[in-house]
Amino acid sequence: MIRLGIFDSGIGGLTVFREVRAALPGADILYFGDTARVPYGTKSAETVTRYSLQIAWYLVGRGVDAVVVACNTSSAYAIDVLREVLDVPVFGVVEPGARAAVEASETGKIGVIGTRGTISSGAYQKAIARISGDVKVIASACPLFVPLVEEGWLTDSVTRDVASRYLAPHLKGGVDTLVLGCTHYPLLKETIGEVMGGDVRLIDSARETAREVKAFAEEKGLRDEKIPGKERFEVTDSPARFFDVGRIFLQHELEDIRQVNIVEGE
Ligand code: DGL
Repeated sequence: MIRLGIFDSGIGGLTVFREVRAALPGADILYFGDTARVPYGTKSAETVTRYSLQIAWYLVGRGVDAVVVACNTSSAYAIDVLREVLDVPVFGVVEPGARAAVEASETGKIGVIGTRGTISSGAYQKAIARISGDVKVIASACPLFVPLVEEGWLTDSVTRDVASRYLAPHLKGGVDTLVLGCTHYPLLKETIGEVMGGDVRLIDSARETAREVKAFAEEKGLRDEKIPGKERFEVTDSPARFFDVGRIFLQHELEDIRQVNIVEGE
């Protein structure tokens, strides 16, 4: 049995949780949402890296076998530092998403969308370029998608208008593949798919990451599906909003949500 620590700036990482749970029903999962300090997408690299380190150390202290960085902004800014300092494997969402995009694209024109932090870090652009030098990437930030998802407006006309505006450069640039480089965006697949048209492949970094975590568990002989794994949710702000918005993400109610404080004096 594998014990996984999955963390995010808040609630969006539940898209990763959902995929990891589907891939590894027997895993014990501790999900950590930094709801007191969300959003990360507008914060500096230094701040996001500091927060990510605090959380990752906390999870390692709780005895997890591996850390999954569900937050794209944390993965973009902090993955190298986390891998350097932690003595457990660390999975991020950027590399699996980039790999899947390069595999999926036939024309070599790939779009990437994410928070301002993720896009300005250049992490997806660099990861794609490392895999294939022959790809053109159009990257843009879509900051209004996060609040729209948390409002539950997944297919609303307002969301469609916002998507049309944000995705215009990708349509104009003729991308055949679009990376959903933010935890919240998989919930907008229907709307984004409608705007981009049926031929454009949407890459769900959450799903690709879950595949890698599953492969790791299998390779280490830690995949054990005899009994359903336990799950627990820890958040840094009051659990009430996490509970409410969590329903939008998972389509069922979350149990065992606790508020924790991992930083002295905060
Ligand atoms: N979890 C963040 C991400 O995937 C989105 C929300 C935030 O800005 O913190 O980048």
